[in-house]
Amino acid sequence: MQHTEISTLLRSEPSHHEFIVKGWVRSFRSNRFIALNDGSTIKNLQCVIDFESFDDDVIKKISVGAAIKITGVLVKSQGQGQNVEIQVDSVDILGEANPEEVKLTILSPKRHSLETLREQAHLRVRTNTFSAVMRTRSKLSFAVHEYFQKNGFNYMHTPIVTGSDAEGAGEMFRVSSLSPTNPPLDENGNVNYKEDFFGKETNLTVSGQLEAETYAMGLGKVYTFGPTFRAENSNTSRHLAEFWMIEPEVAFNDLDANMDLAEDFIKYILKYALDNCKEDLEFLESRLLQEEKSKPMAERSDMTLTEKIAFIVENNFKRVSYTEAIEILKRSKPNQKKKFKYIIEEWGADLQSEHERFLVEKHFKCPVILFDYPAKIKAFYMRLNDDGKTVRAMDVLFPGIGEIVGGSQREERYDVLKQKMEAMGIDEKELWWYLELRKFGTATHSGFGLGFERMVQFVTGMGNIRDVIPYPRTPGNAEF
Ligand code: 4AD
Ligand code: MG
Repeated sequence: MQHTEISTLLRSEPSHHEFIVKGWVRSFRSNRFIALNDGSTIKNLQCVIDFESFDDDVIKKISVGAAIKITGVLVKSQGQGQNVEIQVDSVDILGEANPEEVKLTILSPKRHSLETLREQAHLRVRTNTFSAVMRTRSKLSFAVHEYFQKNGFNYMHTPIVTGSDAEGAGEMFRVSSLSPTNPPLDENGNVNYKEDFFGKETNLTVSGQLEAETYAMGLGKVYTFGPTFRAENSNTSRHLAEFWMIEPEVAFNDLDANMDLAEDFIKYILKYALDNCKEDLEFLESRLLQEEKSKPMAERSDMTLTEKIAFIVENNFKRVSYTEAIEILKRSKPNQKKKFKYIIEEWGADLQSEHERFLVEKHFKCPVILFDYPAKIKAFYMRLNDDGKTVRAMDVLFPGIGEIVGGSQREERYDVLKQKMEAMGIDEKELWWYLELRKFGTATHSGFGLGFERMVQFVTGMGNIRDVIPYPRTPGNAEF
């Protein structure tokens, strides 16, 4: 007989049929009630055992953390909190867990801080919080593909190892097979990358955008969904050195169409979460309420987690130009009273997360799409406006998160792009193929990147990005 998943059993009516279940013991009360979890749902299955008819030896091994197999009958539960339970006929101990050692880990049944859980990242998925987050993450990944596939996009795998810096920001991890202590040198005494594996300098990709552009100019509509890497030394609750990015790119889309796509896509994902992650969101919502109780009143949210998600689905994003935003920020209270860490003095200033969050959370009180940024603070590939000083960029800003999407209409004019690359010190020799795309049937096109972990953060209400990816990579941190 095959074993049945707990999620299936909990949806069943008491049948008095025999089932096999396998899972990990979450608790064992009064030598009688085993709470078993197999990861298929946030809920545990109660298995009731008559300890007098079992060996003491077996009963002892039914301890928190142990993996066990139970054979028993599905009956109506006598207790509260569940409809059905298993009346245990036999127990097999599959993998023991020594209670003395379990006590020292996060498997022990008491509250552990998220920081402590991070230090035992190999065990944390056995907690309610992490299993809920990771099931939700999985569902959201599927929703991403579903959205694009339903809308005629082609999923494109862009390379992980690249020779170009797509963002022109120089925050790359080098990939090399040369000896780190004794690399070959050229006649000037510099490392000779011609002798390296690829015959040139290479790095981990920071974005699949440039490659996605080339494919959009043939397939029309493409998207990527893959890992990207940034060697930026940002120790914040919103940054990872390795994160997953979703990057659609569409031929013939201008910036307005790009904004429409971003808004529609985001709403689809959030609606999907509401419809398909109910039990986990219920748990995460109550977790968040609990967490917020320890915060001062003013910092508590006036909406629950699912209300926040539903609010985004049901309301239009506010579209505001950078120039307008700067005026609002200049006049704002925190700017006038010097409460911002970075005071906004003049047009051209780069926006910090405190400014983005002010616009979204205090001023507009809804997601905001900022567009037409100063060319100087944005990447080389964005299309220059006729004013000669702004570019067709857009950022989607989210409550509690800040920037969740960054995108633009791309510079499709060969001469203008070449000039911009020169002015910004981008090596034309490295990106000759990208430039060449503008010589053969160039056309308006646009795209954006959405940081998947920031989206998972928003949906699950987790405050730190390290808690929404199985094994976070951050400065000084690659233990697991
Ligand atoms: O704004 P970014 O840097 O844009 C790009 O990479 C473009 N090439 C995208 C495109 O147009 N195809 O990054 C896009 C998004 C950000 O808005 C943010 O959500 C996320 O990626 N992101 C990060 N997420 C986690 N950790 C980091 N270090 C991130 N850097 C960016
Ligand atoms: Mg950005």
